[in-house]
Amino acid sequence: MKIAVLPGDGIGPEIIAQARLVLDRLGESFEIEEAPVGGAGYEAHGHPLPPETLALAKSADAILFGSVGDFKYDTLPRELRPEQAILGLRKHLALFANLRPAICYPELTAASSLKAEIVSGLDILIVRELNGDVYFGSPKGIRTASDGLFPGSREGFDTMRYSEPEVRRIGQVAFTAARKRGKKVCSVDKSNVLETSQLWREVMIDLGKSYPDVELSHMYVDNAAMQLVKAPKAFDVVVTGNLFGDILSDEAAMLTGSIGMLPSASLDVNNKGLYEPSHGSAPDIAGKGIANPLATILSAAMMLRYSLGMEEQAQRIERAVQSVLATGLRTADIYTAGTTKVGTVEMGLAVLKALG
Ligand code: IPM
Ligand code: MG
Repeated sequence: MKIAVLPGDGIGPEIIAQARLVLDRLGESFEIEEAPVGGAGYEAHGHPLPPETLALAKSADAILFGSVGDFKYDTLPRELRPEQAILGLRKHLALFANLRPAICYPELTAASSLKAEIVSGLDILIVRELNGDVYFGSPKGIRTASDGLFPGSREGFDTMRYSEPEVRRIGQVAFTAARKRGKKVCSVDKSNVLETSQLWREVMIDLGKSYPDVELSHMYVDNAAMQLVKAPKAFDVVVTGNLFGDILSDEAAMLTGSIGMLPSASLDVNNKGLYEPSHGSAPDIAGKGIANPLATILSAAMMLRYSLGMEEQAQRIERAVQSVLATGLRTADIYTAGTTKVGTVEMGLAVLKALG
């Protein structure tokens, strides 16, 4: 099994280092190769997604990704910014299905900004479409307006679009996942305003007929944003487009107390995938040794489960993480009074120890 490891920027290298130690500890014979990506790719090869890095990612069975981005690249032209690395990988590898679990660990309930009774036991899966929508829809650009309210002025434009097969395949991922969980899918759209969403909803309703054992509901995105903070436990699987999913998955992640705990998977049709923590590169704390490595370690567990067919090893890691939390060790992002604050390396070591 070949794993491409792309640490990236900010806290990426620190948290990836801990996940690599965890993978080593499993005693499997992985072939692991690292390559620079994001700002690190730009520094090394003049591009956020250097051809060598893309080739490695294509040749691997799975990709473990840290995070990309730093303020210092904010002034670069868009095509050279670190974010293009992750967008490019999603596009070039056809990673269309983004699974973002939002789980509130009982030990961390106090770290949530919501009341304990609202979030304790929370277990939502956000299934976000990742290859389409306004992110990738053409045409897009900045031009001189020929019509509209201010003809002759500069205008920016992007295109929201989804084809039926695109909606269908992400819907299938959501329904299939729901079958193995709480058997509920909530499809989030804005079909009261957007044509794209109108089609989205029609396709989801049609698809739902093939999954009579799964309860399908629909929600407008604004209401979904509200319900997520009001009664998040009412959700099981949420399926939505690229842009709405970007926003709602950050919101859902924060409900759990720390985005530093949440892994994610981005899969293609064959379950080849890219695995990354749901949080970003956090350049403000990079190099300080205080970042939480658990989301990356849990991403490695997801990788074992979905792309490498090693369910047992995945569970081993997840149990180890849970037992470390039970002992009261916390990185700064999930620290609450009465627990023990540790740094990135100590947290990683604790997981290794729990793995035995
Ligand atoms: C995410 C991130 C990316 C996105 C950025 C870095 C392009 O916010 O993975 O959610 O918008 O998809
Ligand atoms: Mg995002």
